[in-house]
Amino acid sequence: MKKESWGSRMGLILAMAGNAVGLGNFLRFPVQAVQNGGGAFILPYLICFLLMGIPLLFTEWSIGRFGGKLGNHSTPYILDSINKKWYWKYVGVFGIFTNIAVVAYYTYIESWTFVYVVHSVIGTFTGMSKEAVSLFFDQYVQFSGSDFGIPLFPVLAYVAVLGVNMYILSTGLGGIEKVAKIGMPLLILFGVILAIRGWTMGNSFASEEFPDANAWDGINFLWTPQYTSLADPKVWLAAAGQIFFTLSVGMGSIQCYASYLKENEDIALNSVTAGFTNEFVEVILGSAIVIPIAAGFLGLDWVLQNAGFGMAFQTMPYLFQQWGPLIGAFAGICWFGLLFFAGITSSLAMGTPWMGFMKDEFGWGKVKGAVSFGLIGLTMGLPTVLFYQYGYFDEYDYWGGTVSLVIFAFLETILFTYIFGMKKGWAEINRGADIRIPGIYKWIMTYVTPVLLFLVLMGALITPAGNDWVGAISKLVSGEGWGLDPNSLIAKLNFVDLKAKLVANPENAEFIKKKMLFSGWARIQLGALFLLICGIVWYSSQLRKKASL
Ligand code: PHE
Repeated sequence: MKKESWGSRMGLILAMAGNAVGLGNFLRFPVQAVQNGGGAFILPYLICFLLMGIPLLFTEWSIGRFGGKLGNHSTPYILDSINKKWYWKYVGVFGIFTNIAVVAYYTYIESWTFVYVVHSVIGTFTGMSKEAVSLFFDQYVQFSGSDFGIPLFPVLAYVAVLGVNMYILSTGLGGIEKVAKIGMPLLILFGVILAIRGWTMGNSFASEEFPDANAWDGINFLWTPQYTSLADPKVWLAAAGQIFFTLSVGMGSIQCYASYLKENEDIALNSVTAGFTNEFVEVILGSAIVIPIAAGFLGLDWVLQNAGFGMAFQTMPYLFQQWGPLIGAFAGICWFGLLFFAGITSSLAMGTPWMGFMKDEFGWGKVKGAVSFGLIGLTMGLPTVLFYQYGYFDEYDYWGGTVSLVIFAFLETILFTYIFGMKKGWAEINRGADIRIPGIYKWIMTYVTPVLLFLVLMGALITPAGNDWVGAISKLVSGEGWGLDPNSLIAKLNFVDLKAKLVANPENAEFIKKKMLFSGWARIQLGALFLLICGIVWYSSQLRKKASL
């Protein structure tokens, strides 16, 4: 049988770039940048890209191609191809788990983008006040408004978008490639149109209410580097987290895509091309839309106070309307269309590790693989839709979309650089390469990347109160102990944040308790998913043993 592989180099690069370019570039990046001081964020971010992002891309592309050559297309047995110790295949479970955990809530956002394209076309937001547009979103996620007269419309839209993903996945790599070839150019086109608007707005839309509004303030805020942040671990942690999420490293989907490379197909140039495409879209386009446009209408101060994930859905549709109904509708289609394409080329990538695994181990065909993936995604995702306001969604994003990436990236780096060995690893990266990677990367990958990953992991685990590391260390030395920040992993495990809120806001007790309950359930569900995949991997290992007897 002919081995499945990518149709063309262009298709491969677009699919890989589509995997990386996602909602993270347009929704997560601007918010992270603003919340971490704008220009103060950019330097740590770029350093993390060069010292962690690029090395992880090399690692994941190489181990993926290596495993694929031996017929393995998902991380449990890709890692097993590199080292036969029994536990590596269970480390590889992360590379299926993360994708399912993330796809569950990611496709929910994807469904919003689709619904908002429709609302932009039919002019729903025309003439609505800023408050009304914002409320529209709140009602959507709480199911209290009725869309098109259909009860539980958000659930329906979610299921439909998941269904579209399932359908495309069932057509295999060819389908994914086709979507990337259409979606990526369109996304860039829409992005460029909006970015030009963002750059050229200046202060011409300042109003009586916001006389100081100026789009350039937003741009300057992001692009004036501030060196003081280099000593602030909080900014580094945020920058590292963003690099992981946006490049899709530590997730398992790059390894899976790379396992469909041909044996001597270039890794060095292709991985760097896909990585830089993602960075172009993120730092050039991602930073030139929401922040400048919002600053152009509402002023930088408003942006600094209100920066959040909701801005994209709660504020943008209103702002677009200020350009008049026709351009407003057009801008809405560009913006939500861009988000939709960014989202779908990423959520498709999340489906492939599961499908690859079930095919390799149990001979499941594409349709069976895609449908089963959709059903697991639905089981995981439906509660994030139904209990969105009780934090189900946030728990998935934290454990599945933040913590597990770093753990997995750290372990696979150890496997690649120290167990497989950097000498073999370097040869593997360079086999068939169309460019020469600077030799310093061999050194960075051996000594710098693993140390940084370890620091990021520790930093997240024991973040000190207020993120004040210097203060915390001196307190520790003077015997006062280590005060944890509510955002540290350990404190999160214990719901320190919610417990404090309970004390501070007794009038909200009912809601906060509910939040705790549902967050707990979300964790149980994530844990159960992880164990389920471990179980399937164990079962497959028994089958493999039998087959080799
Ligand atoms: N990198 C994607 C983004 O920026 C997210 C993603 C996660 C893609 C997991 C694939 C797998 O949105």
